[in-house]
Amino acid sequence: MTAVESVRWSADGGAVDIIDQRLLPGTLQRRELRTVDDVCDAILTLAVRGAPAIGVAGAMGLVVALAPHAGEERTPFLSRVDALGERIARVRPTAVNLSWATSRLRCVARATEGSSRDVLDALRAEATCILDEDRDMCRRIGEHGVALLPDDARVLTHCNAGALATGGIGTALAPVYLAAERGRRVAVFADETRPLLQGSRLTAWELAQAGIDVTVLADNMAASLMREGRVDLVIVGADRIAANGDVANKIGTYPLALAARHHAVPFYVAAPWSTFDPATATGHQIVIEHRAADELGRGFASPVSPQGVSVYNPAFDVTPAALVTAFVTDRGVLRPPYRFDLAGHAGDSAV
Ligand code: MRU
Repeated sequence: MTAVESVRWSADGGAVDIIDQRLLPGTLQRRELRTVDDVCDAILTLAVRGAPAIGVAGAMGLVVALAPHAGEERTPFLSRVDALGERIARVRPTAVNLSWATSRLRCVARATEGSSRDVLDALRAEATCILDEDRDMCRRIGEHGVALLPDDARVLTHCNAGALATGGIGTALAPVYLAAERGRRVAVFADETRPLLQGSRLTAWELAQAGIDVTVLADNMAASLMREGRVDLVIVGADRIAANGDVANKIGTYPLALAARHHAVPFYVAAPWSTFDPATATGHQIVIEHRAADELGRGFASPVSPQGVSVYNPAFDVTPAALVTAFVTDRGVLRPPYRFDLAGHAGDSAV
């Protein structure tokens, strides 16, 4: 089982302690985020990334950013909670977990009576709770998902929806970890995931660390692999799931879903309840983050596109619900017709 802890409190409790994912797979190095600038920069530059992990890091980061102001009067302190919470939530717009987690802390702040110190204590407890819940949700996703894996399963995944992307054992990779833990054979194909290579750098790294069979392929090879009959199922994570079941996830997920449908390969989306967003009606309303041009052409020893040409660099795409075989959630496996609206928001604990 993976021992990766992507986000945790620092030993002194005054910082968010993350694995700096920008340095993997070459270097495993932790980094302490002690200010709101540290937190925003780490989320923006993908030092910490993956929808659940940025939710957890955003919540813990808000606590860290507020700590030096705990002597303030209650009213300005509450305004500060809102302002810093909004600032952190704005850093990456697509993953609902980030705004969900910071909003959750802002609600707790308003509901907590007493001094700013009392509010800060309550926020620290809530952020810890979000981390613990995420760990539990990952495990439950794994429990529900492992039943979908045939013997000797050959699983294709995209981006990184593993331990590095969450507070626990991942979402898409959770069933894989549980299968391995139970002594079942499982092999994973990891799309490299252009342009930032979360698949080859991160998924391959954490699976190899755990001793799980992993093979990296370029994104444009996945359809051929399916055509050769070498993929039993696809499992990916999600950044936001709209009320109609449309799924925003890492760019390249949509073509994978199309290829899977063509080849009759089941296409599963694994996500905790915190990723379902009933406030967003369909995928059309999901804001897709566009990232810097130099991420596309400058990641190599020498530039691979001419200086100054326009670059299209959306970080995510939207896969229509119709292409999803089932959602693997911490509350069970949901198959069409979906009725997410009845389940309440992801943050609700009621099923
Ligand atoms: O830009 P990233 O690396 O944060 O994108 C991550 C993904 O798209 C993941 O698949 C998603 O957040 C789910 S992580 C459990």
